[in-house]
Amino acid sequence: MVARNNGSPLRASPGQIGVLSSPRGASLSTTPEIVPPQEDILSLVRTLWSRGLGSRSHLRRLIESGRVRVNGTIVRRPGFSVRPDSDVIELTGRRLPAAAPHLYLALHKPRGVISNRRGPGEVTVFDILPPLPRWVFPVGRLDKDTSGLILLTSDGLWAERVAHPDFAVIREYIAELEEPVHMGALQNLRKGIPLSPDIISRPAEVDLLGELRLRLRIREGKRHQVRKMVRAAGGKLTSLCRTAIGSVHLGGLNKRELRDLTHEERNTFLSATRNGVILPINPNR
Ligand code: URA
Repeated sequence: MVARNNGSPLRASPGQIGVLSSPRGASLSTTPEIVPPQEDILSLVRTLWSRGLGSRSHLRRLIESGRVRVNGTIVRRPGFSVRPDSDVIELTGRRLPAAAPHLYLALHKPRGVISNRRGPGEVTVFDILPPLPRWVFPVGRLDKDTSGLILLTSDGLWAERVAHPDFAVIREYIAELEEPVHMGALQNLRKGIPLSPDIISRPAEVDLLGELRLRLRIREGKRHQVRKMVRAAGGKLTSLCRTAIGSVHLGGLNKRELRDLTHEERNTFLSATRNGVILPINPNR
């Protein structure tokens, strides 16, 4: 079972915002614009399910039979979009119980497990999670053949800070290679390397940790990005492991193990800016 650090909500206070630098590295000296927070929007069935009110098929039937009201109106469509934090949702005349506090988790995904929700005959990260008090989803993805750190949360706004390319959060990978790569190839990786005819990777930090071992730190997360980078540099991977996302490190987490992020780990992502704009977390969440 996941130990909760502290159930108190996250807030982006002026103290947390502090002095900022933009994702592209330009420092910001003026007061950044604050844009109003957005609320999470979820389907009605998922909202009911995340409050632990039964299986999805059971809840779908309840909705279709007209036993759920949203803001006083009967809704019979399970996929109907609601704002769980502000809409008044009633199930058979009773208001929904309050949502459990958001979850922010780190999982060590083993090789062979997929990070998307479904895949026929595949083992997904959801299959290896213990029962949790809220519905969570993976923040970004990790290839089936890649092991390592994957973050999971129930908080859509926080997930956006971590995963959206504009925030350019650093991801660190350890790549094991079949054969040594040339120094020139490492330089190319550092400068940026073509991933496809029209896409060049952003400059990466690359360190040779051993003859057959590289550490790559990149600020983007395109599909198969590291594999493509290593291939384009003439290297052949034998394994790939993500060891950090921002200030969250895989550390000693064993395969399939899950832990709560600390407040400090969660909060470091809140000072991210998008093009110089701070997006505050809704203080009511
Ligand atoms: N880059 C890859 O190639 N694969 C991953 O899973 C993550 C980054």
